[in-house]
Amino acid sequence: MAKLIGSLPNEVVVMNSLTVNLHIMLTSFYRPTNQRFKILIEKKSFPSDYHAVYSQIKLHGFDPVEALIEIKPFDDTKDFIDTSDVINMLAEHGDSIQLVLLSGVQYYNGQVFNIQEITQKAHEMGCFIGFDLAHAVGNIELKLHDWECDFAVWCRLEYITRIHIYLSHLIHSICVHMMMQYNSPYDSLYKLINLAGL
Ligand SMILES: Cc1ncc(COP(=O)(O)O)c(C=O)c1O
Repeated sequence: MAKLIGSLPNEVVVMNSLTVNLHIMLTSFYRPTNQRFKILIEKKSFPSDYHAVYSQIKLHGFDPVEALIEIKPFDDTKDFIDTSDVINMLAEHGDSIQLVLLSGVQYYNGQVFNIQEITQKAHEMGCFIGFDLAHAVGNIELKLHDWECDFAVWCRLEYITRIHIYLSHLIHSICVHMMMQYNSPYDSLYKLINLAGL
């Protein structure tokens, strides 16, 4: 798993569902004060993410109408959010934003967010930042350790399971091919392990 997300092995744990993990992360990272209490998410965020964030804001006694900022494309003719839209929003309102939650790959329009650049700006403004990577893990290259975001959550049903199925089909066909060619299962297995770099 660490290889898929570009983290150190001790930085990742597999447990629960995405939304349960998101609540756990928000419990740790969302510590609002009267000066800094807002959460920034993208417009058309995944509905369960929206509800998790909404309920955490209420749990802390703040009003989501004031505390929940949904970023949408600056230019109404676009259906994706530019990195510069997020950077400008952070530059303008960063002082009151306590936490940013964005996607890696947006489930609705498929756009890829620049995790590294946005994370840098969020940290510069003193905000915590996390990502919903449900559509990113197994789909795009991730270097979470180097990009230094504070947390990320994802689930295996989108891309990881499909990779699994694809890989098991591939390994099965290679195995069959090698067994036919070398007529020895051990020989085949050895070559297969070398091939996969395991
Ligand atoms: C982008 C995204 N976020 C959140 C979820 C919710 O995941 P879970 O049902 O594991 O809490 C999903 C599930 O499909 C998703 O695609």
